[in-house]
Amino acid sequence: MTALLDVRNLSIGYRTSRGEAKAVDGISFTIEPGEYLGLVGESGCGKSTIAKALLGILPEGARVSGTVKFKNTSLVNLSQADFRKIRWTGISLVPQSAMNGFDPVYTIGQQIREAIESHRQLPAAERDRRVEELFALVGLSKVRLKDYPHQFSGGMRQRAMIAMSMVLDPALIVADEPTTGLDVIVQDQIMRRMKEIHERLRKSMLLITHDMAVVAENCDKIAVMYAGRIMEYGDERVFREPHHPYTMGLCAAFPEFDDRRRELISIPGAPPDLLNPPTGCRFHQRCPFATAQCAVETPPEVEISPGHVAACHFVDRAGEFRKRSINPETWRPPQLA
Ligand SMILES: Nc1ncnc2c1ncn2[C@@H]1O[C@H](COP(=O)(O)OP(=O)(O)OP(=O)(O)O)[C@@H](O)[C@H]1O
Ligand code: SF4
Ligand SMILES: [Mg+2]
Repeated sequence: MTALLDVRNLSIGYRTSRGEAKAVDGISFTIEPGEYLGLVGESGCGKSTIAKALLGILPEGARVSGTVKFKNTSLVNLSQADFRKIRWTGISLVPQSAMNGFDPVYTIGQQIREAIESHRQLPAAERDRRVEELFALVGLSKVRLKDYPHQFSGGMRQRAMIAMSMVLDPALIVADEPTTGLDVIVQDQIMRRMKEIHERLRKSMLLITHDMAVVAENCDKIAVMYAGRIMEYGDERVFREPHHPYTMGLCAAFPEFDDRRRELISIPGAPPDLLNPPTGCRFHQRCPFATAQCAVETPPEVEISPGHVAACHFVDRAGEFRKRSINPETWRPPQLA
């Protein structure tokens, strides 16, 4: 099968007054038609940077290298004029806050209709029917099309944004933390809607989140990111049988991943400064299993089984690490003398 999206060795750097922040460093992944990929990782690891690269909305001056192919189009260094042709019709974005996605002075219905009109010539009746269908799909009543964004609750706005992202029937929907700031029940409803859309319409999706449970419940494939790199990648085996200590740490830190009553761990320390990332394995300063080799040698991506890869020098010791990783003592930082 030809991938819908093929990302290879993608690196993205932001110029800052203190030097270049290497936000994304040599990342590869694919999304097949109809696939739902979840990209997880701590704040600042480069998730939104990837989303921005796919939509052509990186800030001016960002340095991009590697290849990104969407269908047959190369997205690296694509002109803004060509990105406009793809945005919404090929790839669309559900942003973190739908408040920013809508203009407060027009009704939601006007804005969705306008999005259709700006790209397609459709008879008004057909256009309106499409808008109503989409509203129904995300669980909103068509009477609310006459409302202004501020008359919607946060969850309703986010659902309207999902409807908006689908008006031009894109092949790929990128949702960047689509439920941040919403309460847990609403989060759950929105994630279920997205999964329904994925299943019923066979839409390809990229879900960006820091919530492991949401990814485990919804996605076919998982990419675990840390400090600009993918640490582990594959299907549900990534969480069922993690081979990278960072994934093990994340799993042991989430109650949903372990039904036994035990103390949850927390990974000590903080992600590194991407202006000056650590040498070797980027996780070595926080990894309880790190050796001297880890601090100097970048680990290769090792294929554990077809389609499941982990970037660690010691994937052959994963079984032992997994056992140790659920013990909070393993993750306690060494006491200062
Ligand atoms: N415009 C910018 N200029 C300079 N550095 C930036 C810029 N945007 C992001 N960065 C840096 O790039 C890194 C990755 O940022 P990014 O927004 O992609 O992270 P993220 O994984 O989406 O985080 P979060 O979970 O908090 O949304 C961070 O270190 C951030 O400080
Ligand atoms: S390469 Fe070393 S530091 Fe990195 S995750 Fe594996 S054991 Fe830990
Ligand atoms: Mg982000």
